[in-house]
Amino acid sequence: MDSSDFFQFLTTRSSVREYTGAAIDDHEITYLFDCAATAPSAGNLEAWDAVIVRDPGRREELSEAAFGQQQVREAPLLLIVCANYVRSMSRYGERGILYAVQDATIAGTYLMLASHARNLRSCWVGAFDEDPVREILSLPSHIRPVAILCIGKGSLPRELADRMPVSEHLHHETW
Ligand SMILES: Cc1cc2nc3c(=O)[nH]c(=O)nc-3n(C[C@H](O)[C@H](O)[C@H](O)COP(=O)(O)O)c2cc1C
Repeated sequence: MDSSDFFQFLTTRSSVREYTGAAIDDHEITYLFDCAATAPSAGNLEAWDAVIVRDPGRREELSEAAFGQQQVREAPLLLIVCANYVRSMSRYGERGILYAVQDATIAGTYLMLASHARNLRSCWVGAFDEDPVREILSLPSHIRPVAILCIGKGSLPRELADRMPVSEHLHHETW
């Protein structure tokens, strides 16, 4: 893949919130996690974990925890990407909290881009109430859910989301 192929790959991804309902095979899930496992992490501690959810009843509960977002109910596969505080804090103390969230965010991004590479559609969901999500998934207290990644098959929208001009992000030398 050359740099223009890479740019094309990035610019053809879009959040998709409607799915055909077709199931995602185990070997596709394995591919996604093989990709996520290549992600960089602080001290190479890989302070992230994920809960794989396919059960319709649990998806319904998670949708309610995500303020009724329908893609959480309808995606055949949910990957709840979590920060593992203990793994990172055991070496980095308080700073490990931030590192674990960064590790989980990067791993989630790799899962999202790997889905795109497999022609699967995804939507990153960050708007959810953490306490019910913890309860539904029986998460231990040192595990923080960072994102619900909704994954399914479906079509890309005809129009991709606009972005602000890159220059508005940039500050040269100092702010
Ligand atoms: C941190 C974060 C939180 C997000 N939370 C939600 C969400 O709760 N529900 C949703 O439908 N989309 C959510 N999104 C997806 C964004 O709305 C989407 O990425 C953005 O509008 C740009 O569109 P694109 O992904 O199609 O390029 C979230 C994305 C990020 C990165």
